[in-house]
Amino acid sequence: MNRKAFIAGNWKMFKTRAEAQATVRELVRLVGDGREVDLVVCPPFTVLWAVREVVRGTAVQLGAQNVHWEEQGAYTGEVSVSMLLDCGCRYAIVGHSERRQFFHESDEAINLKLKKVLSTELLPILCVGESLEQREADQVQEVVLGQLERAMKELTAPQASRVIIAYEPVWAIGTGKTATPELAQEVHCILRRWLSNHYSDALAAQTRILYGGSVKPENARRLMAQEDIDGALVGGASLDPQLFAKIVKETLTNIN
Ligand code: 13P
Repeated sequence: MNRKAFIAGNWKMFKTRAEAQATVRELVRLVGDGREVDLVVCPPFTVLWAVREVVRGTAVQLGAQNVHWEEQGAYTGEVSVSMLLDCGCRYAIVGHSERRQFFHESDEAINLKLKKVLSTELLPILCVGESLEQREADQVQEVVLGQLERAMKELTAPQASRVIIAYEPVWAIGTGKTATPELAQEVHCILRRWLSNHYSDALAAQTRILYGGSVKPENARRLMAQEDIDGALVGGASLDPQLFAKIVKETLTNIN
């Protein structure tokens, strides 16, 4: 396995311009030139440009938390791929559970977004994950594979090979309850097997699958040690540059 580790911080609806710039300045200082890992921050749209000014030429890359599927038009409140590229983004999160849950984002919309993102040089981070009720009803596999299948509908192999997947069990997001490394590994393995069956072993072997849900410095190492966990999508802990840099360090320790 030679998948490069990938750690992304999803800042959600936090940080003004001054806070955002101070956070990434400190992050850059702490991680130095650590390019053994793809390190990404996904700030709110309003500070993308300000964060870009700080991270330009450093090891920290930029991602967005959401994107619309149309090139441009009368879509109040939405942001297009060209706008994200213009701000220096290389990644866009698609289908985060908070978008699905609070903004009623459907699998069809997620599919359109993925296709749009993949028509540009942006790389999508596609989120899937089950709720607590679904886990308790023993529906994990059915739910995550259903989400994956509908999101990736009609994607060609070259398109699919550019998708980064994030498994984020909804019950573990912001709750302090992390999936055990073994539980997470089980789902990552199911997701990778699906890629293998629908595309190829080679595509499955090169796809990065991240875990998200209460990732902290204390649990990062054991999660990353799992064979099919290639990185993390970090919420709360990514707001603090010290904690986020520690997660990066734990991941690198594990790789080396
Ligand atoms: P927390 O790390 O705060 O649980 O958030 C995870 C998440 O939703 C990342 O996208």
